Amino acid sequence: MAKEKVVLAYSGGLDTSVAIRWLIDNHDVDVIALAIDVGQERQDLETVRLKALTVGAIESIVKDVREEYVEEFLSKALRTNALYENKYPLLSAMSRPIIVMHLVEVAQRTGARYIAHGCTGKGNDQVRFEVGISALDPDIEVLAPVREWELKTRDQEMEYAVKHGIPEPTTKANPYSIDDNLWGRAIECGVLEDPWVEPPADIYAMTGDGNVPACDEPEYAEISFVAGLPVSFNGEKKSFHEIILAMNEVAGKHGFGRIDMIENRLVGLKSREVYEVPGALTLIQAHKALEDLCLERDVLHYKLQIEQKWAELVYNGLWFSPLKEALDGFVDSTQALVTGDVRLRFFKGSCVVVGRRSPYSLYDYELATYDEADNFDHKAAKGFIDLHGLPTKVWARQRRKVGKEGEV
Ligand code: ARG
Repeated sequence: MAKEKVVLAYSGGLDTSVAIRWLIDNHDVDVIALAIDVGQERQDLETVRLKALTVGAIESIVKDVREEYVEEFLSKALRTNALYENKYPLLSAMSRPIIVMHLVEVAQRTGARYIAHGCTGKGNDQVRFEVGISALDPDIEVLAPVREWELKTRDQEMEYAVKHGIPEPTTKANPYSIDDNLWGRAIECGVLEDPWVEPPADIYAMTGDGNVPACDEPEYAEISFVAGLPVSFNGEKKSFHEIILAMNEVAGKHGFGRIDMIENRLVGLKSREVYEVPGALTLIQAHKALEDLCLERDVLHYKLQIEQKWAELVYNGLWFSPLKEALDGFVDSTQALVTGDVRLRFFKGSCVVVGRRSPYSLYDYELATYDEADNFDHKAAKGFIDLHGLPTKVWARQRRKVGKEGEV
């Protein structure tokens, strides 16, 4: 009888390579390895594909989904200005749903009963995989080898690899756990587990510290947006994908885009995370600056709450959920006229918005100016303040009457 099949989210690294062998031996399944290219720094993908076959997969697929990732996923993150806990641009949380989509697609096409991932039992990613899979196909079952097996340390995994003839990692053992894609890079573990220790300089790969001669002068960049998405960079038409790469480059060079934070994981613990997100942070900052100009006040204020909820849902693995989709609808409806240009200045680790303009700007010079051209009705302010402040006045009078002046 043919064996059951499992589609494994494969990275080419030690964990998921060991997982291939382990799944075959412990679950008696045929393994189909699927590696997804979301723009991570990686070995040659053909090497990754072949490695899975060497270890024992019956089929090995590599899919480049970068374009889809940018157009269908990162576009939403940018229009939403998505920052978990007001800081983290969700780079790992953004890539999991697209990986899940392709895992499910391959599982359905090949008639696989299972999907497997290489996540540990105390991170967010396991939740994102499993909740995502169940939303797209509730009948698929999940296997999580790293959560099940007894290989506690990297050395034990290496021993297992050697014993089973799994090619050893070609890359040097890294004391950190790294996850990266077009939206940035996450670095955890090692000395970073002590929140008091300053991150060592050598953990960074996308951002410099600005201490190179090329960074002695400030650099300006101009980004143009149409309907909430970037369409050109320094006056040159470019795709969103190209603009992300360009911003990673420019902002990274000037040392902008490092985050060192304590973060609340969904599974209940706090973790220390270091991120490099030069492009993501720059673009979100620029996009927000344009929204400040183009969105009506109440919409802007309400959107801030939606943004926070959206980031929380996506962080918590609920990309494929009705509430997240409903919030997408709200965000879409705000973006039609978020069109215009933003000018940024990079210098020694900083990125500052120094100019913004839009054909749909709601900034009215004649209302704002203190010069001759002023046409704001100053006298109308008096009545406005009287009524706006009336509840407070009534409260203060009443308190005084009963001898409770100043008490709330
Ligand atoms: N803490 C971040 C998140 O949950 C980053 C996770 C990075 N994953 C990793 N395997 N290093 O989104």
